[in-house]
Amino acid sequence: RIAGPAALVIFGVTGDLAQRKLLPAVYDLANRGLLSPAFSLVGFGRREWSADRFAAFVEQAVRRGARTPFRQQVWDQLAAGFRFVSGAFDDPAAYQQLDATLRELTRVRGTRGNAAFYLSIPPRHFSDVCDHLARQGLAGHDDRSWRRVVIEKPFGHDLRSAQALNAVVERVFAPDDIFRIDHYLGKETVQNILAFRFANAIFEPLWNANHIDHVQITMAEDIGIGGRAGYYDGIGAARDVIQNHLLQLLALTAMEEPTSFSPRALRSEKIKVLGALGLPADLEAHTARGQYLGGWQGGRLVHGYLDEEGTAPDSTTETYAAFRVDVHTRRWAGVPFYLRAGKRLGRRVTEIALVFREIPQQLFTPGQTAAMGPNALVIRVQPEEGITLRFGSKVPDTNMTVRDVNMDFVYGHSFAEASPEAYERLILDMLLGDPPLFPRHEEVELGWRVLDPIERLWAEHGRPEGYRPGTWGPASADTMLARDGRRWRRP
Ligand code: BG6
Repeated sequence: RIAGPAALVIFGVTGDLAQRKLLPAVYDLANRGLLSPAFSLVGFGRREWSADRFAAFVEQAVRRGARTPFRQQVWDQLAAGFRFVSGAFDDPAAYQQLDATLRELTRVRGTRGNAAFYLSIPPRHFSDVCDHLARQGLAGHDDRSWRRVVIEKPFGHDLRSAQALNAVVERVFAPDDIFRIDHYLGKETVQNILAFRFANAIFEPLWNANHIDHVQITMAEDIGIGGRAGYYDGIGAARDVIQNHLLQLLALTAMEEPTSFSPRALRSEKIKVLGALGLPADLEAHTARGQYLGGWQGGRLVHGYLDEEGTAPDSTTETYAAFRVDVHTRRWAGVPFYLRAGKRLGRRVTEIALVFREIPQQLFTPGQTAAMGPNALVIRVQPEEGITLRFGSKVPDTNMTVRDVNMDFVYGHSFAEASPEAYERLILDMLLGDPPLFPRHEEVELGWRVLDPIERLWAEHGRPEGYRPGTWGPASADTMLARDGRRWRRP
């Protein structure tokens, strides 16, 4: 699977995402021989940069962020296809220059007129960029070449704005030419959910309401918002990562088996399950939100959210969000899915835990099983990627005392191959035109249908509850589960 000839045009190439993820991923792909020799990279930005200045910028990002070693030969071949177009997003002259650049690349590099436009820019600019691309005749393609657009979240901040944003992009690009990036779908462990469930005989028979009591999906980060207040404040944890990443994890966990791995088959199962999500009637009792306070974390004194640079002094943005959602299908009837995400928590971990029902008849005394929790199957998305089955085992040399033990699959132990970075995989798939891992707008909209009522509820309530850094979030999150007779896992 080697990508064919094409130019990748990055709007917002001097931004944080391009520097940290996109440019290193492009280099790593080239270094692994996965890009065509014709592959070309065009930066589009406001700065008045020469091609050399741009190449120096890319080199710095690559040397800092690439996973694979720097090889001069690969670099020289790649860098010969670098171009920089300088201009504002609403400047027609810049698009003329872009047009001329793409034609030149077709001639001298052999990109065959294929181009992907990566919008690594705030969504308020999408309309300008798409319209100018269309006006310059850059968005349409003929039978021999393709034109694609890649967009990053946030795909709106509620259902209405998502629909409006989608209309802007679909005015110019056909649905099959629009690639929405959810970088969680590029992660090896996330893709493995499909193999784990559907390539094996052991698990699927247990994967339903007869055996599963509830599911917990956790995305915990130990970092704060860093320098991202401009993006994060007013958005919050639920819109930032639950609407997209966590609901995608839920969809892959809860969906039925697709009839094939074709994008259409996969997507239709995901859409079915996302369409079957419902919030509990007593919504308020089944959500929790928090905002981190200042304090000590890992031996360091860290700022509270309100003291981070760039946040509004009275901001009610949540940095921790949790809620319950039910999947109204026969497979999952009565099995709650609890989602939680937060910053400045105890440690960085993303996992999906399927917690099993109690055994129907207890042979052991409460004393014998005091150190045993419910059986659980835990998919560790990151770090320490792997899967753990947790069950009870007799403690040696006791009179039937049982406690929890783990049966572990660890990627690093079983595979010599390193997992590619999510962005590498996604950029390659996009260039190949292979889209099963890119959410369609229906999926995005179904996500907002779940989130909108929660956001509306939160907007009516004043402040999120404060929580100390390095803890597992606000007390109300524990209360929320305790009401249902359950407890959060401590990963
Ligand atoms: C991004 C969010 O989508 O994912 C960030 O905007 C978050 O707030 C990041 O930190 C986490 O990504 P990863 O791959 O490190 O889990």
